Parts: sequence; structure tokens; C-alpha cells
Amino acid sequence: MSRTKFPEDFVWGTSTSAYQVEGANGEDGRGPSIWDTFSDSGAACDHYHRYPDDVRLMKDLGVGAYRFSVSWPRVLPEGAGRVNPVGLDFYDKLVDELLDAGIKPYVTLYHWDLPQALEERGGWPERDTAYRFADYAQVVHDRLGDRVGTWLTLNEPWVAAFIGHAAGIHAPGRKSAADAFTAAHHMLLGHGLAARVLRAAGAAEVGVALNFAPVLTPGQVTDPGKKLSEEDAEAVDRIDRLMHGQFLEPMLRGRYPDRLLEIVDRTAGLGHVREGDLEVIAQPIDLLGVNYYAPCVVQAQPGEPADPAYPGSEDILFTTVPTAVTAMGWAIVPSALTLLLGRLSREYPDLNLMITENGADFADTVTGDGVHDTDRVSFIEEHLRALLAAVEEGAKVRGYLVWSLLDCHEWADGYQRRFGLVHVDFATQRRIMKDSALWYRDVIRRGGLGDDRLKRPTLETVAARAHVSRATVSRVINGELSVSADARAKVLLAVKELGYVPNAAARSLVTRRTDTIALVLSAPGQRGDALTAAVVHYVTSVLESAGKRITLMLSDTAESHRRIVQHVEAGLVDGVILLPADDTDPLTERLARTDAPLVLLGKPAVTSLVPYVDVDNVAGAAAATEHLLRQGRRHIGMVCGPTQLVAVQDRLTGHREALQREGLRPHVALAGLDGESAVAATARLLHDAGRLDAIFASSDELAAGVLRAVEGMGLRVPADLAVVGFGDVAAASWTSPALTTVRVPVAGQAKALARLLLSRLEGRPTTSVVLPASLVVRDSG
Ligand code: FCB
Repeated sequence: MSRTKFPEDFVWGTSTSAYQVEGANGEDGRGPSIWDTFSDSGAACDHYHRYPDDVRLMKDLGVGAYRFSVSWPRVLPEGAGRVNPVGLDFYDKLVDELLDAGIKPYVTLYHWDLPQALEERGGWPERDTAYRFADYAQVVHDRLGDRVGTWLTLNEPWVAAFIGHAAGIHAPGRKSAADAFTAAHHMLLGHGLAARVLRAAGAAEVGVALNFAPVLTPGQVTDPGKKLSEEDAEAVDRIDRLMHGQFLEPMLRGRYPDRLLEIVDRTAGLGHVREGDLEVIAQPIDLLGVNYYAPCVVQAQPGEPADPAYPGSEDILFTTVPTAVTAMGWAIVPSALTLLLGRLSREYPDLNLMITENGADFADTVTGDGVHDTDRVSFIEEHLRALLAAVEEGAKVRGYLVWSLLDCHEWADGYQRRFGLVHVDFATQRRIMKDSALWYRDVIRRGGLGDDRLKRPTLETVAARAHVSRATVSRVINGELSVSADARAKVLLAVKELGYVPNAAARSLVTRRTDTIALVLSAPGQRGDALTAAVVHYVTSVLESAGKRITLMLSDTAESHRRIVQHVEAGLVDGVILLPADDTDPLTERLARTDAPLVLLGKPAVTSLVPYVDVDNVAGAAAATEHLLRQGRRHIGMVCGPTQLVAVQDRLTGHREALQREGLRPHVALAGLDGESAVAATARLLHDAGRLDAIFASSDELAAGVLRAVEGMGLRVPADLAVVGFGDVAAASWTSPALTTVRVPVAGQAKALARLLLSRLEGRPTTSVVLPASLVVRDSG
């Protein structure tokens, strides 16, 4: 077999799902599903009426397989009991049409559209749903089983259980970790029961399609063999069990992974896992459907709260890597598919694998002569090469189904996503084969890839063809008027001839106009001039070396807020870094509503989608307090800055919790931001609390005030009273005795801020960064 030839009997095909393409949600007796309630897909691709056209398209492509799903509420409008024969007629006709065209149907029974009636009876967290699923499988098999050989029970149960029941982003929109684990178990049980029913009814092949996002650290994305620290290895392993082991192990080995069960037990108890369930779940399967889009990148990060979609993921940061991304923001990492297939074949050597979904969303442009989706072509091509590499190493991969045949309704994202090989104009339902469809047709005809990799036109290629500079191309694409008519015409011609489509990264490159970033200092809550100076220094140096200019803006009055927002809205900057925000600051919210990417220094009071960089204030304050406890201090007071500042609140929380763990009571005196207010607070504290042997101050400025006050009272530091601060920006060097304090990694924070903003500018998905704080012990405590 040559490198670009696939096995003779390799199956080429496409995938869709009922709710995403059918439309006709209220027609012919179909009942509502949880997705109708959650986000109405309307007419979708009207596949319900246009399936003959769509089958013709597939025939033209030459595909050998079409994976579609049956809508449970179309067949059983109340989820159970009464069968709707007209609903079944649709699938009956679709199957005949496919067989006539020489296309083998792969039927998925559950692609997320649970009948609403069953949700009202408790949904998947209710055990009965699993039994109703098996009944439904029987009903569908009764009608189609004479012509359909391959059955997939569930599609991506992890997504349905956790994105639907824990994160609340998909239907039914619940936010309960316990519900998610219970739902997952009942989906597994439903799979086992349905597999048994299908097998007994004579199904030739039974399988399931799972979502796979190989879990990697950022370093492993480029170097898969990279040695991991113990903490990172544990983080990778934990997420892998939650997302993959939770489903693979029960289905293929009849057991849950141990360390997963601990999390399930802690979150949902184990009452829902009954004697005998695992035996039912572990029905032999003939085919494992692999849905692969992108890896999941994580690293150990002490103090990071659990991600709602992954209950039990405390101390793990979900992060990003600087790779190309699709319009969805998903990292494009074909090599992770090779790794994945290799691993599955090693761990489950008897299993037959098939890629049941792989594909990409890119913002396609319809031109007079088609849709030149070169991004999608190269995405699929690279993934086919990755697949072939695994096959050559011995993985048993039967075929490859592109997600998707058609642009369709992308769940929580609606119609803004375009995954299709075929473009759909949702207003007219007109279909246009994209270049990727025509290319896929050639691949299928050839039984493999061409010898030359497709050369993707880039901004440079366009510039060379048009004999203009790269900047001119960029200006034309941005519609800037400063380009001569002649140059514009040349660029547009080159774009058309080359089929150039800027990908997400290039698009953000070309739409970036100013190369200027606003660094906004939010003055009222902002003392610690040393901190500000350091952050400004580091942010500026990282951004300048990335070719950006900085505009410093002060936000101290309502008037200045207005000015800043106006400046950003006028497109005078590409992005904004705001430092820091306190909860009385409406600027964050106003800036978040503009189009410019925004990142914050300091966790905002209200959780939002705006990413921030912060230090772990809770853990830092706890470390300071634990240090004092270890020194034998028992009567510890706190001089606490303004609690409307989120960082101060968190420091207070960390301090309190550390004391509580020792059964000790906190003594807190409130101060302002400056040392003078700490002098007064210390006097109050010593007066009210009586004997104290240590004081923790929420900042170094306050700690300096505490030292002064204590000295004035004739107490010795640390012999009579130890003092610990928070910050360590510069204060430690000017107090006497030198201050023991919690170090805020200023440079790390500033660099992380700058990098976070750069990632956002490139359209890469971003998550907040929380850095660890460390205690620096000096003489004061
Ligand atoms: C998968 C789903 C499929 C589609 C793709 C993009 O998780 O199974 O329906 O939405 O993602």
C-alpha cells in the first residue's frame, strides 16, 4: 500500500443528525424534543423534504456510507407507548433511496434529541429512560432492520450527559454534576439494553459513537513523547477518565475506572449503579465510532476551580496552545488523531474502529463561482494522512465519515457554524457543493489522496500574484479606501483566481488595523504604584516585541470611562488590557460589550466570559496564615483592606479558612488602602481582640502601617508580634524588620496578560490564568 492509498474496502462517507438537518419539527405527528425546547432549529436543511436531492448529492460524491440519526420523538411522540407510523415512513423512504443509490445506511439511534415528554418524567437522570430507549430501538429495528445492517446506539454520551446536565450549555440545560453522572450511567445502561435488543432482533452490527479529545499538556501537543511532571500526568489522566474512560471501560470491560468512581461517589453517590448494570452495559460491540475534532489541552494548576463540564477537575487548567484553529476556535492537531487511533488499537486490540465524525467549521464565502473552502480541504486532507499513519501502524480503521454532508444547525451555536461539504443557503435551501466536496469526490474516486499536498494560497501568494505588497492585500481585504483602483482590481483578481480564503488566524491578522493596544489603568482602586509600574513595564515589553504599540489610558472619572469606550468603539485600538477592576467599576462591563478583545488583570467580581489573569489570592492568604500557625502563633489578627476589592475578599477568605481548619476564630479590622489607615486599624485590633501574637495584612502597604503602629506601642517584631503582608512588589525592601510576605508574581502575571490578549487577537480560544502565590519568609514573621 503506498502512503496515499487507503485499503481497498475503505468506507468513505458523510454524517448528519436528525435535529441538525431534518426540520419539519412540527410535521406529521412528530413530538417535541428537548432541543425544540432549548433552541428551536426551525426548518434546518429541510432534509425531511429534500432527502432525495441530498441522496443525489451523495451519489454524485460517490460516498459508500451515510450516517444519519433517527429522531426518537418523530417515531414515539411521547417518548414511549404510541408509535407514529408516519414518522417511521420517512426513514423507510430514506433508507430505500440510499440503497438505490448504492449507499449503505449507518443508523444512529440517539443523537441528543430526547423526547420532551421523557424529560418531563425525569430525563436521563431517571433510570426508566434507559428502558424506554431499548423499546424505541426495537420499534425502529422492526421497521428498518430488514435493510439496515449497522446500528449505532448513542452519539457522544459524554457531551449529552455533561454539556447538557452539568455545564448547562446543551439541552436540557441542567447544571447539576450529580444529574450528569447519573445521566451518563443511564445512557450506558440504555446502550447495553438497546444493543441486546438489536442483537436479538438480528442486527448484523451494533456499535456506538463516542467523542474523543485526546488529553494533552501544551508541551505534548508539539512533542507527544514529552515527559510529564507527576502533577501534569495526574491532570491528564483525570480528564481522560472523565471524558473517555467513563464510557469506554464500562462498555468494553464491564467496569468503571477506580479513580473515576471516587469522583462519582463524592458527587452523585453510587446508588444509581445497580447490581448487574455493568454486565448489561458490556454487550459485545462490532464497531466503535470515533468522533474526533480537537485535543483537550490541560495542565496542573493548584487552586483552579473545577470546570463545570468536568466535575472533579479541581486544580486543572483547561488551556490553549498556539496552533491554527477552526472558526469554532478548536485547535487543528491532526497528529492527535494518529495518537488516538494507535492508543485505542493497543488498548482494545479486537475492536473495529471507524471515524464517524471529523470535519471543520470555517467561515465560507460564496463567490460567483463556488465556495473555495481551502481551509476545509486541508483540514480533511491532513486528518486523512493522520488516519493513514495509524492504519500503517496497524490500527483497524474501517472508514471515514465527514462531519458533515451539509451546513446545518450546530446546537448551542445555531446556524453561524458551517461544517458542510455542501453549502446551504438557509433562506432558499439552495445547496452548493463546496470545493471540499469536489475534492472529496476525487479522493473517493482515487481511493486515496493525490500525491501533491494541496498548496494553500496565503496572503503572500496573493501578494506575489498581484505584484503588490502584503500590506496592500490586507488593506484591500479590509475594504480600506487608501488603495488605488488599479491595485485593488489586481488583488481581487488574484484572490479569485487562487481561491484565497483567509483562515481565522489570517483573517484576524488582516482585519487588525491599528496594531495598537489600550492599557487602561483603573485609578480609584489602584494604589500599589510599584505594582502598576511593573505591570506596565512587562506588558509593554511583551506587546512591543509582538509589534504592537501601547496607548496608556487613565480611567478615574465617569468622563474618562466615556472617552475610553468611545476610543475603543471607534476602532482606534485592536484590544484592551484593563488593570485592575474592582466591583464598583462599570468600565469592565462596558468594554466587554465592544468588539475589541478585552483581558483583565484581577478576577472580576461578577463571573463573565472575559478572561483574566490573577494570582491565587485565597491560597496565598492561607499560606501566610498557615506559616504563622506553624510558628506557634495562636492569636492572629488581620488588617484588611476594602472588601469591595475582589482580591481583598479572597485574601480574607483564605485567612479565615486557614484559621477555621485549626478551630481558631478570626479577628479582623478593616482599613483603607494606605499605611495610615492600617495604623488606626492596628490600634483598634489590639484594643478589641486583647492579646495578639501575629497580624496578617492584606497588602504590604498595610503591613508597613502595622509595623509602624506596633513599634509605636513598644512591641517587638517578631518576638511579641509577627507581621506578614501580601504583595512583595517593593515594600519588603523598605520596611524594618524586612517583611515576610506573599509574593505576587508580577512579571508572570503581566506576561500572561499580554499573551492572553495576543491569543484573543488571533481568534484563539482563551481561558483565564490563575498563578500560584508563594510565601517569602523574612524577619518580620
Ligand atoms: C459533534 C456532534 C455533531 C456536531 C459536531 C460538530 O460533537 O456529534 O452533532 O455538532 O460535533
